[in-house]
Amino acid sequence: MNRTVGWVEHRETHHGLMVNTAIIRPFRIKDIHDIMEIEGRAFPKSAYPKALILEYARAYPDGFLVLETGGEVAGYLIYDRRQGHILSMAVRPLHRRKGLGSVLFTHARNHARKRLWLEVRSKNTGAVQFYARLGMTVRGRVPNYYETDDALIMILEEESGAGARS
Ligand SMILES: CC(C)(COP(=O)(O)OP(=O)(O)OC[C@H]1O[C@@H](n2cnc3c(N)ncnc32)[C@H](O)[C@@H]1OP(=O)(O)O)[C@@H](O)C(=O)NCCC(=O)NCCS
Repeated sequence: MNRTVGWVEHRETHHGLMVNTAIIRPFRIKDIHDIMEIEGRAFPKSAYPKALILEYARAYPDGFLVLETGGEVAGYLIYDRRQGHILSMAVRPLHRRKGLGSVLFTHARNHARKRLWLEVRSKNTGAVQFYARLGMTVRGRVPNYYETDDALIMILEEESGAGARS
């Protein structure tokens, strides 16, 4: 992935017009500290180890997306672009519910060669609702996939605009 995608949000507030800009770009090795911090905040008990994140960066160089806003790494998404498999995604707590996760997901959707799909903890109701809002549906459940929880298999429905476009 050699593209940089610009994204601008304008929002009216009582202070006036607020403008946020964000870019999506490929992971660079210097991002690793930020990614590990975001990962640790998002998954306090089950964060991926640094070695695995670096292995994903090596294996999926065009599928490791970093979202920057205000000069800060605010979120990331890792996916296997050829198989459409989302491996991980997270947004910094302070930046959540501003649409950034949706921007990352939509970018992956538009560049995946197959329909997006993923496993998610059944108890992670916030993420399940987030993915459902983006057009994914639950197609299966793998009991005890995570030590203390089942995995739900979610897939992006056809009409949600999946598929290769590049
Ligand atoms: C899941 C996650 C990536 C969503 O990122 P985000 O930037 O907050 O998502 P968005 O702002 O684009 O949310 C879009 C919509 O999804 C839904 N949504 C998002 N987070 C939600 C939550 N915690 N509870 C319920 N619905 C949620 C809402 O409908 C939201 O729209 P709204 O804010 O207008 O109500 C983020 O909450 C996160 O990092 N969570 C921890 C890590 C994680 O669970 N990752 C996914 C498992 S792999």
